[in-house]
Amino acid sequence: MPVAVVVGMQWGDEGKGKIIDLFAEKVDVVARYQGGHNAGHTICFDKKEFVLHLIPSGIFHDDKLCVIGNGVVVDPMALAEEISELEAVGINLEGRLVISDRANIIMPYHGVSDQGREKGNGKFKKIGTTGRGIGPSYADKIARTGIRTCDLRDEKYLRERLEANYEEKSQVLKSLYGQELLGLDALYNDLIVFREVILKYLADTNVLMNDQISQNKKILCEGAQGTMLDVDHGTYPFVTSSNSSAGGACTGLGIPPTKIDRVLGVVKAYTTRVGEGPFPTELFDGDGEQLGKVGHEFGATTGRPRRCGWFDGVVARYAIKTNGIDALILTKIDVLDGFKTIKVCTGYKFEGKVYPDMPADPKILENCEPVYTEHEGWMEKTVGFRDFEKLPEKAKNFVKYLSDLLETPFLIVSTGPDREETIQLGPLFPDS
Ligand code: GDP
Ligand code: IMO
Ligand code: MG
Repeated sequence: MPVAVVVGMQWGDEGKGKIIDLFAEKVDVVARYQGGHNAGHTICFDKKEFVLHLIPSGIFHDDKLCVIGNGVVVDPMALAEEISELEAVGINLEGRLVISDRANIIMPYHGVSDQGREKGNGKFKKIGTTGRGIGPSYADKIARTGIRTCDLRDEKYLRERLEANYEEKSQVLKSLYGQELLGLDALYNDLIVFREVILKYLADTNVLMNDQISQNKKILCEGAQGTMLDVDHGTYPFVTSSNSSAGGACTGLGIPPTKIDRVLGVVKAYTTRVGEGPFPTELFDGDGEQLGKVGHEFGATTGRPRRCGWFDGVVARYAIKTNGIDALILTKIDVLDGFKTIKVCTGYKFEGKVYPDMPADPKILENCEPVYTEHEGWMEKTVGFRDFEKLPEKAKNFVKYLSDLLETPFLIVSTGPDREETIQLGPLFPDS
C-alpha cells in the first residue's frame, strides 16, 4: 500500500511544490486532493521556474499520472490557461492528466462574491483571500447547489443547474456588491466552450485511484495550503474553505483511510503567512524584513508580500498530531544563514498561563506572547548543500533540536529552491 500524503504544516507556501516534484520521480501517480487555483506551487529545475496552481506537481516527469481529485474546486479559465502554458513548454497532458468528474466548478459569480465580501460589504472582517472564488464555490458545494464537472457531459442538465443558480446569484451580486452578473446565455456558452477543453480529461477518479491502489502503484497525494489554513483545524475564520490537512486526501480523492500508509509534513525553517489572521511569532523588525528579503517571500499566486516570523513549535506540534505526520521535511534552512540568533517558539503565554498546544480561541492567538528558545546562528552559507554531515555544526544542531522538540525525524532538509538543492536522509517509502 504505497500511498503517501504530503501536507503543509504551517499557513501554506512551505515548499510543497518543490518536494512533490522531487518525490514524483519515485511514484506512479501524483494527485491533488483539495483547494483550487488559490495554490501556487513553485518547481525549479534546469535553471527554470514554474508555478502550478491546479495541475499536480508531478507533471514535469513524463510518465507520471496526474490526478485532480473530487475535493478540488476547478476554475475553467484558470485550468485552460494552465494547460496551454504547459503545452507551450512541451508538456504533454493527454493520457496523463485526469480530472475528477465529481469536482465542483468555480463559476464567475463565485469570484465576484469572494472579492465583494473582501471589499468590506457587510460586517465580516476581511480574510485576505486570493479573490479566486474558492470560498463561495465550496459554500455552494456544501449547500448542494454547485455545478460539477460531470454536469458538463449533459447540456440539458447543465443548463438546468445554471438556471437554478442564476436568479439567486444575480440578485445577491446586485444587491450586495452592486455588480451585474453576465447573462444566463453568456455564462452557459462559456461553460460549453470550456467543456471542449476539459471533457477529454474527465474520469471517475475514485475508481481510478482505487484501481491504482489495487495494482500496488505508488501514489503521492498533494496537499495545497497548510494545516493552519484548514477550515476545521486552522485559525478559523482566517482559513481557506477546504480540508488541507491529511484527512482531506481521503475525502478529496476517494481513497479509504485504511489505504494511506505515510504522511509527510513540509515545514519551513521559519514561518510565513499571506492574508489576515493571527500569527503569534510574526516579526515586525529587521529580522522579519530579512526573512522576507532573503526568502523572497512574495505570494506565488497573488504576488502579495508574505508576513514573516520565527519557527513556531506550537503550530508544528499541532500539525504533527492533526495529520499523523511520520516524517518531516524542513525547507529553506538556507534562508537562516545570515542570522546571528535564531528563535523557536515553544509555547504561547497568555494571562499568566503558558499554552503548549494550539488554542482554538482567536483572542488567545491574537494576544499571546510567544515563549522562545534562542539558538546561535551558523553564519555560513548552506545554499545547495546535499550532504547533512557537511552542514555547519550549528545548523546540524538546529535541525536536531527541531527533531527532538517535535519528536519526529526529518526525511529531507532543503537548502535551495532547485530539485538538486536537497539533503535526503531516507527514502520516500521505508521499503523502497
Ligand atoms: P508551496 O505553495 O508550498 O509549494 O510553496 P511556494 O512555491 O508557494 O513557496 C515556496 C518558495 O520557496 C518557492 O519560491 C520555492 O522555489 C522556494 N523554496 C522551496 N524550498 C526552498 C529552500 O529550501 N530554500 C530556498 N531558498 N527556497 C526554497
Ligand atoms: P499553497 O498551496 C498560502 C490563504 C489566503 C487567505 C486564506 C483564504 O500555495 O500553499 P482563499 O483564497 O483560499 O479563500 O484564501 O488562505 N491561502 C494561501 N496562503 N498558500 C496558499 O496555497 C494559499 N491558499 C490560500 O492568502 O489568507
Ligand atoms: Mg504556494
